[in-house]
This record gives sequence, structure tokens and C-alpha cells, in this order.
Amino acid sequence: MPAIVLIGAQWGDEGKGKATDLLGSRVDYVVKFNGGNNAGHTVVVGDEKYALHLLPSGILSPGVTPVIANGVVVDVEVLFEELDALSERGVDVSRLKVSLNAHVITAYHRTLDKVTERFLGKRQIGTTGRGIGPAYADKINRVGIRVQDLFDENILRQKVEGALDQKNHMLVKVYNRRAIEAEEIVTELLSYAERLRPMVTDTALLLHQALNDGKTVLFEGGQATMLDVDHGTYPFVTSSNATSGGAVTGSGIAPNRIDRVIAVVKAYTTRVGSGPFPTELFDESGEYLRANGFEFGTTTGRPRRCGWYDAPIARYTARINGVTDFVLTKLDVLTGLAEIPVCVAYSVDGVRVDEVPVSQSDFHHAVPIYENFPGWTEDITGVRTFDELPQAAQDYVLALESMSGSRISAIGVGPDREAIVVRHDLID
Ligand code: GDP
Ligand code: IMO
Ligand code: MG
Repeated sequence: MPAIVLIGAQWGDEGKGKATDLLGSRVDYVVKFNGGNNAGHTVVVGDEKYALHLLPSGILSPGVTPVIANGVVVDVEVLFEELDALSERGVDVSRLKVSLNAHVITAYHRTLDKVTERFLGKRQIGTTGRGIGPAYADKINRVGIRVQDLFDENILRQKVEGALDQKNHMLVKVYNRRAIEAEEIVTELLSYAERLRPMVTDTALLLHQALNDGKTVLFEGGQATMLDVDHGTYPFVTSSNATSGGAVTGSGIAPNRIDRVIAVVKAYTTRVGSGPFPTELFDESGEYLRANGFEFGTTTGRPRRCGWYDAPIARYTARINGVTDFVLTKLDVLTGLAEIPVCVAYSVDGVRVDEVPVSQSDFHHAVPIYENFPGWTEDITGVRTFDELPQAAQDYVLALESMSGSRISAIGVGPDREAIVVRHDLID
């Protein structure tokens, strides 16, 4: 029975939220397995626009059970705010389940995120400032606070005191900030316990049983392959595994249960924050993509860096994640361009390289080798079958498919829920 992983193919904001929402009515569980409220997913349903951060996008589909699994870092205050905002708009959020093993983002993680970024100066990552990196660092350092700790006051106090011991020395002596009182943190975290209690459970067991019962489970990745802490453009990455492997460790579901891996890929490329980006545009074409694609961050509002489609990155994503299907989004944004360049390989210090180089210096030096494709001018936002697309748009999609290492099963032609061309069913 289907366990489907859906991940981002590039540097995030590919339209994962919309793709999850598209499948939402046909799945029983949607699981967030990595990241936290650094994610920003915009889903448009009719006249309504939803911005989701910590909650999986599947929450908008009636009947779906949304799950925040162990691999996520949870800012509980943000969680409650997001739940309240959705409830006020009539979304049923009562089925949400949260893992007892998920880690908690506290005020000191948010503070550390901001001060360490400032300290890095021009080497800064450009994080979302939500405390994601410091919370994962504590997890790996074994001084993290988990959701289950909120239900045991003594343990919570010991752990918060332990976590703050070293941090307060750093904050005061290195970063010139005031020390954080353990008791303030403990009081705040304890105040969440009562509301959280009915939502928490052993989500790994829940999902295991759901799969045994023949339910359909969709694992929705936050961020994307090139932001993955192991496989992305380190150190300009997020602090979790955003690739399909992260769905396994981040949920407690074994790898041999995964049936399908869907990667969402934009018909061009964007990136928020610092780090290498070979096809980045600094001219009016970049402005065109930013304006037409409305490329401004859902979480921080920052303008996204824009560039052409990078086929070596798509092939890399196909390989690292075991992609079975691509969902190609935002094809409509390219409408009106006379020519559309696609990066087919790189030149690294004068040598042609066909795959993403593993050496960071080589990737920094990678200059795209482009192939140009003819554009189209017809409005495609109303198109619902592949054959209705203008010939040049069809040719563009087929060219990307032949270069990207897996089939393109669906094509986004507008922000709306309905604006999609399906070529192959993504679930059966
Ligand atoms: P996510 O983080 O991967 O979920 O993506 P975001 O929501 O941050 O960014 C994707 C943006 O593109 C959102 O504003 C979506 O509404 C929008 N979008 C998604 N698919 C399409 C599409 O096919 N065409 C257009 N024009 N917009 C799309
Ligand atoms: P979705 O799920 C785009 C980027 C940040 C920064 C780096 C590290 O909407 O695709 P962090 O706060 O995670 O420590 O920041 O990662 N980043 C994203 N970029 N989309 C996202 O999520 C992102 N989440 C983090 O801009 O460069
Ligand atoms: Mg986003």
C-alpha cells in the first residue's frame, strides 16, 4: 500500500505545498518529517490563500490526518498560532498528531540563530532566524528538549538548565548578550503541556499501523535537496535531511516501505539566502522571473534569487532521492519569453562537467552551459491536458524530462489548486 515521499528538487519553494494539497483528497495521512517553521508553503484554494509553516499542507484537505513526526523541530507557540489561525478560517485541525520524540525550539534557539548569523558577518547563511539550526545542533549534541519532556517538570528543568549552562557562557562572554533564565523557559514550556497533551503520541507506531491497515501516507518534505545538510550546498543549507532518506529517519518508517518518491521541481530555479547558484540571473530575465513568478519568500518576504532550469541539479535530485516522478511547477511563468535557456552541463575551470560536482570549489566555479529552447506566448493557465499546451511548451517539458532523470508526471500551470496538467497518476 502506498507510502509516498514528496520532496523539493532544488533550493526550496518549488510548490510542494500545492502538490501536497493536490494529492490531499486521496491520502489518509500527511507527515512532516523534517525542518520546522522555516518552511513556507502557499496553497491557493479558490479565493482563499493559505500560508503554512509548521503544519503539513495536507491539513487543508478534509479527512486527512496531519502528523508532525520525530524529525521535525517544533516551536510550540508557532504551532498554536498556526492552528488558531486555521481554525478561525474554518479548517478542521482536530486530527493533528505530534511526535513525543520531536525536538522543541525554545527562545534561546531563536536568539542563538540571530546572534550567530550576525557573528558570521559576510559568511552568514541567511537563515530564516527561526532557531532551526541551534535546535538541531542541540539534538545532535544530546542536549535537546523533546516534546515528551514537557510532561515531566523535573526532567524538563534539569534538561533546560543543562542546555543553558554552556549557552549562557557563550551568550554573555562571546556574543555580549544577557544570560537566559532557565526558569523563564521552563515556565513557558510547561504552559504548553495541557493543550499539547491530546495531540501527542508515538507517531512512528501510528504510521506503521496505518500502512499495515492499507492507508495511504504522504511524507511531505520541507526545504529541498540542495538545502539538505548532507547532500546540499553545505554550509549554505538547512540543518535537516530534506531528501527522501529524511522521511525514513524523520518518521520511523522503514525504507523498504516507501513505494514512490515525487520531486517537485520549478520550470526555472530560485534560491533564498546565501550560497552558490550557477544559473542565477542578475539581469532583466531574473527580474522577469521574480515578477511573473511572484518570487518573494512565504516565511521572510525576502526576494528570491532567480535563474534558469538546471538539468544537472534535477539529475542529481533524481539520483539522491530515487525519484519516480517529477511534478514540474510554474511552467506558466515562462510564457512570453522568446527563448528559454536550460543549463545542460557546467564548465568548471574550462572543463565540461555533466554532473553536479562534489567539490564545493568546483560547484562555486561552475559556469552553466546553456541550450536554448523556443518560447511561447499563449496563456496556458487554463490548459488541463498535455496536448492542449502550445507545441513549444510541450517540447520544453519533453526536453526537461529527457535531461532530468525521471518522468514528469504533472505540470503546474498556475497557482490555483485546479491549475495542473496530470500526465501520470501520482498515487496508483
Ligand atoms: P513550497 O515551499 O515548495 O511549498 O513553495 P512556496 O509555496 O514557498 O512557493 C511556491 C509558490 O508558487 C506559491 O506562491 C504557489 O502558490 C505558487 N505556485 C505553485 N505552483 C504554481 C504554478 O504551477 N504556477 C504558478 N504561477 N504558481 C505556482
Ligand atoms: P520551503 O519548505 C527556501 C533556507 C534559508 C537559508 C537556509 C538555512 O518553503 O521550501 P534555516 O532557517 O533553515 O536554518 O536557513 O535555508 N531555507 C529555505 N529556502 N525554502 C525553504 O523552505 C527554506 N527553509 C530554509 O533561506 O538560506
Ligand atoms: Mg516555501
